[in-house]
Amino acid sequence: MEKLTHFLKASPSPWHAVDQMEKMLSSRGFFPLTEKSSWSLQPGGRYFVQRQPGCLIAFIMPQHPQNHGYENLPRVRLVCAHTDSPGLKLKPNPCKIKSGYPVLDVEVYGSPLLSTWFDRDLGLAGQVTLIHADAGLRSRLLDFNEPVALLPSLAIHLNREANEGIKIRRHEDLSPVLLHNFIGKDQEPLALFLDWIVKRLQFQYPGEDFYGWDPVSWDLMLYDCAPAKIMGGDDGWVTGGRLDNLLSCFAAVTALTLATPSRETQEPLLPVLACFNHEESGSLSQVGAQGNFLPAVLKRLFHEPQQFERVMSCSTMVSVDSAHGIHPNFTDKYDSNNAPELNAGVVFKHNANQRYAHSVVAEGMLKGLCRSLAIPWQDFAMRADMPCGSTIGPTLSASLGLHAMDLGVASWAMHSIRETAGLTDVRHLQALLTGFFSSSR
Ligand code: CO
Repeated sequence: MEKLTHFLKASPSPWHAVDQMEKMLSSRGFFPLTEKSSWSLQPGGRYFVQRQPGCLIAFIMPQHPQNHGYENLPRVRLVCAHTDSPGLKLKPNPCKIKSGYPVLDVEVYGSPLLSTWFDRDLGLAGQVTLIHADAGLRSRLLDFNEPVALLPSLAIHLNREANEGIKIRRHEDLSPVLLHNFIGKDQEPLALFLDWIVKRLQFQYPGEDFYGWDPVSWDLMLYDCAPAKIMGGDDGWVTGGRLDNLLSCFAAVTALTLATPSRETQEPLLPVLACFNHEESGSLSQVGAQGNFLPAVLKRLFHEPQQFERVMSCSTMVSVDSAHGIHPNFTDKYDSNNAPELNAGVVFKHNANQRYAHSVVAEGMLKGLCRSLAIPWQDFAMRADMPCGSTIGPTLSASLGLHAMDLGVASWAMHSIRETAGLTDVRHLQALLTGFFSSSR
């Protein structure tokens, strides 16, 4: 499970997560494609294609070439997850001086538990585009990989009611203070910020010259520099940032690299993994689940007219995302009859109003797989008087027209800067997804 903690540390932003997933896939024989090129896909070939920021699709072609007969139509085994996490994102003019201190100006991305962002060692990571008068444009991944800012709490002596609940004003209270050695007090903050970015890029890419390059655009998120930790050994917990939903991405990529679909000769399988960005803000973007990336890629895998729709009609999707584990201090917030525990099995997520994707066909198939692989499972549903969150499952199931089921790993403190999940659950999820990619049952 050190691989999981390494993956989390190396993925402070969706850009970086895709980079890490590509490395995992490349080392297991997956070949990179680009959207721009024309594809000549080989039977049994393993491929991946990215659309940055933060979006990646990987697949394994069926062993036998497709023919016209119904019997040999491949069945897509699709697993979907998201690479983004809620947090604080830098504004276009990201620096200002407050009471003599340089602070960062941020917007809230998605729905983080804001109180957990105070008093943390905050790093900064994402992507920067630079312009050069002669040489044009250049985009690079950026990660300061050390604390650069801090959001200090107000001392209790200055707010005696703090422990009765704090209202956080998004515009006034969420300006992380930059470490003063990064930006001098007398200098114009934006110019210094840009200079700071260029210096960091020069350090990160020693073989390139960034002299004369101006950063003009960035997609930069703050993150907690405290690394993910394993507590209690292999059967214990993992605690860390961005478990929602990098934990699912990690399990799904690992499962795809371990999948053995070619052993099933009767019904050819086409395992597909799709990881999207922007789930936390509604999925409507070029790299979100409502974008055209997944249908565009899938359509390139089939040559016959109507084959896409025919294949989808006999295909299945699993949407993987974090699930709520019962919290012993807040049991009244859960339906005790449908409340999963940490390290007690993969969670099947249910909502009567299709906030989670659900089809009895997909659920039956996956629970059958759990039974044959001796994987424990649990079911989750909210209290009848509380609404639940949502996932990319319903959107994708609707647009592609396939049977789908939402499942995931039970966790505590979803959307906190530091979440907790059970490690045996991660292994069980990985085993279930490997079986799903490999089995035509
Ligand atoms: Co999520």
